[in-house]
Amino acid sequence: MPHSVDHDGPMTSTEVLRIRNDFPILAQEVNGEPLVYLDSGATSQKPISVMETEQEFYEQRNSAVHRGAHTLAVAATDIFEDSRATVANFLGIAENELVWTANATAGLNLLAYSFGNASIGEVPAQARQFGVGPGDEILVTEMEHHANLVPWQELCARTGASLKFIPINNDGTLDMDAAAQLLTERTKVFAFTHVSNVTGVINPAAELTAMAHAVGALVVLDACQSAPHMALDLQALDVDFAVFSGHKMLAPTGIGGLYGKAALLDALPPFLTGGSMITTVTMEKAEYLKAPQRFEAGTQPISQAVALAAAVNYLHETGMDRIHDWEAALGQRLVSGLEAIEGIRVLGPASGIPRAGLAAFEVAGVHAHDVGQFLDASGIAVRVGHHCAQPLHRRLGLSASTRASTYLYNTPEEVHVFLEAVAKVRPYFGVSGE
Ligand SMILES: Cc1ncc(COP(=O)(O)O)c(C=O)c1O
Repeated sequence: MPHSVDHDGPMTSTEVLRIRNDFPILAQEVNGEPLVYLDSGATSQKPISVMETEQEFYEQRNSAVHRGAHTLAVAATDIFEDSRATVANFLGIAENELVWTANATAGLNLLAYSFGNASIGEVPAQARQFGVGPGDEILVTEMEHHANLVPWQELCARTGASLKFIPINNDGTLDMDAAAQLLTERTKVFAFTHVSNVTGVINPAAELTAMAHAVGALVVLDACQSAPHMALDLQALDVDFAVFSGHKMLAPTGIGGLYGKAALLDALPPFLTGGSMITTVTMEKAEYLKAPQRFEAGTQPISQAVALAAAVNYLHETGMDRIHDWEAALGQRLVSGLEAIEGIRVLGPASGIPRAGLAAFEVAGVHAHDVGQFLDASGIAVRVGHHCAQPLHRRLGLSASTRASTYLYNTPEEVHVFLEAVAKVRPYFGVSGE
């Protein structure tokens, strides 16, 4: 059972200490120091309830789903589909609007390839709404993770459509004036991240979606860094499609999701084809099932989906608004603490301005990899490099940065330990001055 929750108030240090007991990995020492895990933006740790759920599935119910008539197969199918309902409910969507994918990258590629299938060759009437070609534009932003950029570049290369991007301001926020200008009747798809994995900027998703719909564009939301950290109601946001990764939200690797409005998913041509997604097959052709099975060819990540439902239950019981507030406070501590250290430049909004619970930064005169190694020697785990966002780093005048990212199990004391260590980086490497 997860820790007990006091839903009446905000999360407290006492509650977070209880939460930490659910995450055995956090109790270990790394390089002789207590582990300070500040890399949840890359992947989160897993609570016991999630690991036990997956193990229990293998011990008691393991079987292929949607195939067998035997008792175990029925039990596995039931729990697999119940898990879909749990996760769909968590995101404010209907069950048939949630397609299991391996991760967010797989979901975005599924969309880009399916749009491609609707653009080239003989296209069924209902799928033509997704077709793109010369004269059409796909719009992204300058802050995208490569997962929400490269598949669209490939789609443009295959179809002759043009890729455009909305630039960012110097503080990392989206240039909304440029957004208004770049969204035109030529825009067929607008794909943007809800929360930047580098700057922590939270984009106004509902406003951007309304702007895109006003010009008739389809909206794809990359919810990779928002679904784990804030309450999401995808239907209320009115996005047409959204993707997320389970491993960033307490679940195992190998499971993620693609949301699509039911009518759109049922009209979209499939990407992967094969078993489990068809109604009838002859030697010449095949008819496809409706969503979500239409997009779930082959044997699915069953135990992972079941474990994702356990992860979502854990998050839900803790309370997404409470988690968001706790992390937002940690994020502000990170930023104001980093700002106070000489020679550090924080990427993204300054302290006091809302952002996600993460901070990427540059240490003047020290390469990010050296920063990462120095922190690792003190048991502090951060991410270094371009965080799969090379164009954004280039725009900010960097090739790499160091990123500390928090989750519900991190404490203010850990942020303090981290800041103390960062303050020692430049003296250690013999770098001084601005
Ligand atoms: C904003 C954003 N989008 C997409 C991804 C890709 O996620 P995955 O590698 O799990 O597919 C990430 C992962 O870091 C991300 O932060």
